[in-house]
Amino acid sequence: MANSSFIRIAQVAKEFTAPDGSIIPVVEPLSIDVQEGEFVVFVGPSGCGKTTVMRMVGGLETTSAGDIYLNGKRVEGPNRDKGMVFQSYSSFPWLTVLGNIRFGLKYRDDISADEKERIARHYLDLVGLTPFADYTINRISGGMRQRVAIARTLAANPLVLLMDEPFGALDALSRERLQIQLMDLRRAERKTVIFVTHDVDEAVLLADRIIVFSARPARVLADIAVSATLPEKRSLDILDIPEFRKIRRDVLALIRNEETRMEAAE
Ligand SMILES: Nc1ncnc2c1ncn2[C@@H]1O[C@H](COP(=O)(O)OP(=O)(O)O)[C@@H](O)[C@H]1O
Ligand SMILES: [Mg+2]
Repeated sequence: MANSSFIRIAQVAKEFTAPDGSIIPVVEPLSIDVQEGEFVVFVGPSGCGKTTVMRMVGGLETTSAGDIYLNGKRVEGPNRDKGMVFQSYSSFPWLTVLGNIRFGLKYRDDISADEKERIARHYLDLVGLTPFADYTINRISGGMRQRVAIARTLAANPLVLLMDEPFGALDALSRERLQIQLMDLRRAERKTVIFVTHDVDEAVLLADRIIVFSARPARVLADIAVSATLPEKRSLDILDIPEFRKIRRDVLALIRNEETRMEAAE
């Protein structure tokens, strides 16, 4: 293998064809390497191509050029190696909360039934839904449904978690709580995560590395090693420290500059 990165996005480009037949370049040839256990956050102006890159990594979208490798294997479609959590997700409305989380373990044949039950309840507890285990999905709030989706994805134990604005629709308190839970979980399990957000505080709080994308067509504008500056163990208190605020300011300046450039081009 030419490169030992856990995830390798190698000269990947994407273009869409508009209804009138014209070609819309959405992602320029770009390369990103992610190491095992890294938490990488994608930020960039709205509509720049973040979701498109994530969908290609997840195998939900083909590349127009270049290839993506996960753990040395070329990504050719969605499979259980890639656990995906989106802002709007689908759960199984006829199943209970616990039933939905159990579903994430359905295809795991490496563990016993007892172990599956223990893991399902572990993730149920992790997202704070133990009191709601037996509720059906249509009886719980949108924020709680999102927690079910996250628990179900984690329970399936994918190689990589691909999270596209997963907390975007949640109220502020639920979001903070899930941010902390995600940080704890990640430290405990060294999960490799790619996370998209438009919330710069969230990006700096969670990231080992922040990749800032340019306006469409997306290219990598900056690759910021947050873990070189901030401690690995973080709490919400970190939002007040000068090092945090500096990274936040730098990222915001890059995005604002891109948005201005985009407006000027219109
Ligand atoms: N299937 C598609 N067909 C045509 N254009 C698309 C398609 N999917 C995304 N786009 C366009 O690609 C651009 C980037 O979209 P997206 O990746 O969703 O951006 P982001 O997630 O950064 O907001 C947008 O202009 C969007 O309209
Ligand atoms: Mg998006």
